[in-house]
Amino acid sequence: MLNFEIINPTRIVFGKDQLQRLPELCAEFSSSKKILLAYGGGSVKTIGLLAKVKEYLKDFDLIEFGGIEANPQFHTLMKGVSLAKEKEIDFILALGGGSVIDGVKFMTGAFYYKGDPWEVLERQEGCVFEKALPFGSILTLPATGSEANSGAVISRSDIQEKRAMGGPLFFPKFSFCDPTVVSTLPKRQIANGIVDAYVHTLEQYLTYPTDNLLQERQAEAILNTLIEIGPQVMDNPGDYKLASNLMWCATHALNGNLRCGVPTDWATHMIGHELTALFEIDHARTLAIIAPRLYENQFANKKDKLTQYGKRVFSLSGDDDDIARKAIQHTEAFFQSLGIATKVSEYTKETANLSDKIKKTFIERGWLAMGERQAITPDDVAQIVQNSI
Ligand code: NZQ
Ligand code: ZN
Repeated sequence: MLNFEIINPTRIVFGKDQLQRLPELCAEFSSSKKILLAYGGGSVKTIGLLAKVKEYLKDFDLIEFGGIEANPQFHTLMKGVSLAKEKEIDFILALGGGSVIDGVKFMTGAFYYKGDPWEVLERQEGCVFEKALPFGSILTLPATGSEANSGAVISRSDIQEKRAMGGPLFFPKFSFCDPTVVSTLPKRQIANGIVDAYVHTLEQYLTYPTDNLLQERQAEAILNTLIEIGPQVMDNPGDYKLASNLMWCATHALNGNLRCGVPTDWATHMIGHELTALFEIDHARTLAIIAPRLYENQFANKKDKLTQYGKRVFSLSGDDDDIARKAIQHTEAFFQSLGIATKVSEYTKETANLSDKIKKTFIERGWLAMGERQAITPDDVAQIVQNSI
């Protein structure tokens, strides 16, 4: 087993009808009782969450900041930072999915940063957030695991960039995870959530066989559970058993446990982020497009694990080579069974020179060797993208 270190200080308050805990938890981190309530395009109003939160926090001074986009935009978030400074808030509460929670993570670091916070996202030498405001979240969309991790992904459409950030400062102090929100979600977002959680698991599992037997089985448990409940929760989003299992799988897929003592890949995410930056394809859909083609491209390197995955998750038998190939086909078929298209051309017609363009971006960023064996080169990236069109 590889060495590892893990800490996850986020308090997860899981289940329905728990918001009565909110004033006490906010008071623990906000001494001034001045809180920025951050949310997205308005679903929190439609589902009645914003009104409930305001009622529970009636003794607090609440400053609202709505309008954070799906794939949160740097310039919008900077407006939130200005508002937070002007109103001298000392705590931010994120109400939403991964985009709002990620956006809030960025805002809490940018709040104290002296230079242009974009430098941090570009990871120029010496540019890091050294201090951050405390924040909490109320999750409305099970997908990213952002409610239980310290990562964030921020977009900038003016220059077609999507960049990741993170670090120990960016764990939420608490996250409310109420599975009943699943019943309010459009089918498209439920499907996205299932696929995002599934691919988070694969990024930390589909590498090569490891000595961490527990982590291997935990990953397989999440994959099996998502395959079992995915189609059902799409049809019955109000079913609490199904919704709570989806939410708990999504949290577990990216709360840090699965990466313990094992190699990880993450190249599907790195390439997928480019498709969102260029075409605004939903995050999870970019993963469904890229993952099968990446596994084909890396077949020799991943064959042993693909075979294990095929046997244990899809109960396949026969020749190892055949099982490994079928495992990729079953994965793509699972995504498609949720109504998710797995070709770039099904989302955009602007695919001319796409593979060269993404390859060039990777070279410019110095991303020359990716994946668990550092075996994915910019040429492989071009091939993967070309085969995804
Ligand atoms: O903006 P509103 O009106 O709230 O609508 C949202 C948005 O349009 C809607 N929605 C959310 N909860 C709802 C709801 N509609 C009805 N009822 C509800 N209960 O859903 C739409 C999508 O929301 P968004 O937050 O963008 O989705 P998701 O949670 O999938 O987050 C995607 C973002 O997270 C990043 C992605 O790159 C992307 O920017 N990721 C973050 C990660 C992390 N922090 O660990 C890891 C992931 O790999 C991912 O990269
Ligand atoms: Zn993801």
